[in-house]
Order: sequence, then C-alpha cells, then structure tokens
Amino acid sequence: MPLLKVEGLKKYYYSGLFKKKVIKAVDGVSFELEKGRTLGLVGASGSGKSTLGRTILRLLEPTAGRVFFEGKDLLGMKGKGLKKLGTEMQIIFQQPEASLNPRMKIYDSIAEPLRIHRLCKREEEKTRILELLDAVSLNKELLSRYPSELSGGQLQRAVIARVLGLNPKLIVADEPTSMLDPLVQAQVLSLLKSLQEERGISFLFISHDMDVVKWMSDEIAVMDNGQIADFR
Ligand SMILES: Nc1ncnc2c1ncn2[C@@H]1O[C@H](COP(=O)(O)OP(=O)(O)OP(=O)(O)O)[C@@H](O)[C@H]1O
Ligand SMILES: [Mg+2]
Repeated sequence: MPLLKVEGLKKYYYSGLFKKKVIKAVDGVSFELEKGRTLGLVGASGSGKSTLGRTILRLLEPTAGRVFFEGKDLLGMKGKGLKKLGTEMQIIFQQPEASLNPRMKIYDSIAEPLRIHRLCKREEEKTRILELLDAVSLNKELLSRYPSELSGGQLQRAVIARVLGLNPKLIVADEPTSMLDPLVQAQVLSLLKSLQEERGISFLFISHDMDVVKWMSDEIAVMDNGQIADFR
C-alpha cells in the first residue's frame, strides 16, 4: 500500500462578481507516493504546485477527488482521526518566518507542537528539544533567541526541528530552500535527505530548480496548468 494516493484531485478557485470566474489551479491530479520516497514537483509559476500540496494536506478544501493516507480516505475524516493525521503530514514553506511566531523564542516554537499534541512529558521536554536540535545541527545557544536573530539557514533548520518533533511520515516541502544562498541551500537539502534515510519520511518536494529536484527525487512530476503533464 502506498503511503499517499491521490486520485483525480481538483482545486478550483472562484473569484469575481457572483464567483463566476473559475481558476482551475489543480485540475485532475493522480499519483502515488511510497514510504521513504520523494516525488519532485516542478512546473512554471502558477501551474498549481503549492495549491496541490496544500489541498493534499487539507489546508485547502478540494473541489473534487480523493486523497488516501495509509489507505485511509483523508477527505472523509474528521475529529480525532484528522487531528492525528495532522501531525503525520507536515509542510515546510519557502519562508521559514511564516512557520515561526516572531514573538516566541526558538525553544518555545519547537516545544509548542509537542505541548499541543502532548507528545512528551513536561520533564522530558528539554531533552527532546535538545535531540531535535542535534538532528538538525543547530547550536543550543540559539534556543533563547527570537526568529529575527537567526540567519535564513538557521531559521529553516529550526522549522525542520519543529516539524520533526511531530514524527511526520510525509512532509510537503514547498520551495524549502529557494530563499537561501547556494551553500546553505545545499546543506539544508543534505539535511532533509539524511533525515529521510534515518526516519523513512516521504517527501513531496516542490521546486523551480530542476537540478535540485533531480538530486532530491526518486521520481519527478511535471505540472502544467493544474495537471501533471509528465512523470520522469
Ligand atoms: N487564494 C487564491 N485565490 C484565487 N486564485 C489563486 C489563489 N491561490 C492561487 N491562485 C491561482 O491558482 C493558480 C495556481 O497557483 P499556485 O500558487 O498553486 O501555483 P505555483 O505552481 O505554486 O506557483 P509558484 O511557482 O509561483 O509558487 C495560479 O493561477 C494562482 O494565481
Ligand atoms: Mg508555489
């Protein structure tokens, strides 16, 4: 059974007077993703990559189609089941600032999901956070800082640490390194790859950069106008 199965997924946006204008951002996408594998998603700006990623995670309500996670129909789920799946599927954005509260110290940003989902006892929290920090090679001195006091690469590592705390099985990475300079980008990409090898995480990896996608992915889907035009 694949980890993720997407079937005929559609996401239309309606705008304008009487919501008559339709943008078919995702228009019938199907694919499967196995555990521990990476599907790269490339395509021109506006082809629907981010919309697809968000609709799969149900951050956006789909217009049509189905999404199965470990065989379970995601779109039919609610309540507790959905909350649990909410930890198993995570997203990393291009701008790490978007995932971190500017008024929270890095320690609390990493601790927050652990507390919300009660993933560790209060007395084990510090140890757990130091482990997560170690996994992303961040210095523990950064824990008492605010996001504005970190570099772009450090911020993205902090975001990855926060996400890892939830033990995700699937990560949608939406241009996770395109704001970073090339050296830091290579380091963060290597980090993601080694975490995948250690933990068997699956990635839907979205990027404009074909070289990056080729290096990261087992298979590549080329998106065009809301559809997958080609698998490579
Ligand atoms: N909230 C929204 N309301 C209306 N239209 C939207 C909305 N979000 C995106 N769109 C439109 O949907 C289409 C797909 O957008 P999307 O952001 O998914 O593309 P993308 O492939 O991620 O682009 P990029 O490479 O620039 O990030 C575009 O035409 C966009 O203008
Ligand atoms: Mg996008």
